[in-house]
Amino acid sequence: MATQIAEQPGTYRSSPSAVDALKEHLSRHPEEKWVHTHPYDVSRSDIYYEDRWQPIFAEMRAKGPLHWVDESPVGPYWNVVGHKAIGHVEALPELFSSSWEHGGITILNRLDEDELAAQGRERFELPMFIAMDRPKHTGQRRTVAPAFTPAEMKRLEDDIRHRTGELLDSLPRGEVFDWVDKVSIELTTGMLAILFDFPWEDRRLLTFWSDWAGDTEIAMVRDLDEMRQGILREMAAYFQQLWAERANREPGPDLISMMIHSPAMNQMSPQEFMGNLVLLIVGGNDTTRNTMSGIIHGFDKFPDQRKLFEENPDLIPNAVQECIRYQTPLAHMRRTCTEDTELFGQQVKAGDKLVLWYLSANRDAEVFENPDKLDITRENARRHLSFGYGIHRCVGARLAELQLRVLLEEMHARRMRVHVAGDVERVRANFVHGFRKLEVEVTTF
Ligand code: HEM
Repeated sequence: MATQIAEQPGTYRSSPSAVDALKEHLSRHPEEKWVHTHPYDVSRSDIYYEDRWQPIFAEMRAKGPLHWVDESPVGPYWNVVGHKAIGHVEALPELFSSSWEHGGITILNRLDEDELAAQGRERFELPMFIAMDRPKHTGQRRTVAPAFTPAEMKRLEDDIRHRTGELLDSLPRGEVFDWVDKVSIELTTGMLAILFDFPWEDRRLLTFWSDWAGDTEIAMVRDLDEMRQGILREMAAYFQQLWAERANREPGPDLISMMIHSPAMNQMSPQEFMGNLVLLIVGGNDTTRNTMSGIIHGFDKFPDQRKLFEENPDLIPNAVQECIRYQTPLAHMRRTCTEDTELFGQQVKAGDKLVLWYLSANRDAEVFENPDKLDITRENARRHLSFGYGIHRCVGARLAELQLRVLLEEMHARRMRVHVAGDVERVRANFVHGFRKLEVEVTTF
């Protein structure tokens, strides 16, 4: 599938999606397929693509909250799989660092200077506050947090409702179509375009950039990583232009203007400004998109829950939480241990990588009864860890919840029932957890 990519706002050329580029590359270089031999090496993407990750994590959880994987294509790492253990690690951000200097928040290791030199490459990294520790993290998070207050959500709600309703009314009836493309992508990229006051006609670029930036497997293939970096540079150039325009005009309510005119902005370099914009695009894109698809898939798999939703719209706010728990749109985040320590009976050393599997915590039977069932009446659905925990807990959570609530409310108002009616293809990745394609048909209840 070719995607439109702009060299400058408004001008386009074609470029493949990240997934297609990776598929194509691996078909030409099958020897580069990664070998996963350790039984608990859950960095492999096939188990998510084929939706068979559940028993592996259940087996780990039954044995304990932490498991050491001594060898894998992403190096050695700890799997942290219990709800309590993940909360514990996230509550100690000095001991378990998010900082890119220690290794950042992705499962991949950062190439050191010698490795880069050996490959004849320059480092291209965009610093972002999700991969920073205190105190720097605090100052930078403050520049964007005002965009997600309850008052801001009130201000945005009517517009979200209007756009959602209009889109639902435009969906074909009596015909199979891809919910991911027509609904999930359209609503989430449109939302981000409004948040940034981004040129509307270019909004699919946000999807394209987010796909490339958020794909950790792409980053493991040298040629593709170079392509990825080129795309990220183009994105940075595009935003630089928007920044220059906004810096010279009256401050508006959009996020870019808010950031430029924030008092905390003087703590940020231009690279950090760009990095944080990328963070907002990636953070707000795949995650909400995949929950919008997950809701439809979940209701189709558990028709009793769909019926409950249809009969009782008061359950919608809790259904939103439960669907976020059940889907877990980001499978994990990573931390790096800064000092030797004991953790739940295991010796963790300074420099060790810990992968916090939210996907597993959200199926932990010690917290959630019958965790593999979607249950929109679940009393403690809110205890899910899909948004993380502690100082890095998702800053955009309220916006995501608002978009999902409005989607369900508007579907209900139209008595709309959505059935899975064709192909279902999941994302082939260990980080973003969701759907690439979900063919559906719309009827009424
Ligand atoms: C952080 C998930 C929607 C922006 C995070 C983290 C997770 C997450 C797991 C890291 C938490 C941690 O390390 O403890 C999600 C999910 C979403 C969602 C599941 C939707 C269902 C959004 C939206 C935006 C956003 C809509 C903005 C438009 C961010 C940012 C951070 C973040 C900026 C970094 C926070 C920090 O480091 O302080 N999100 N997110 N996210 N998210 Fe979200």
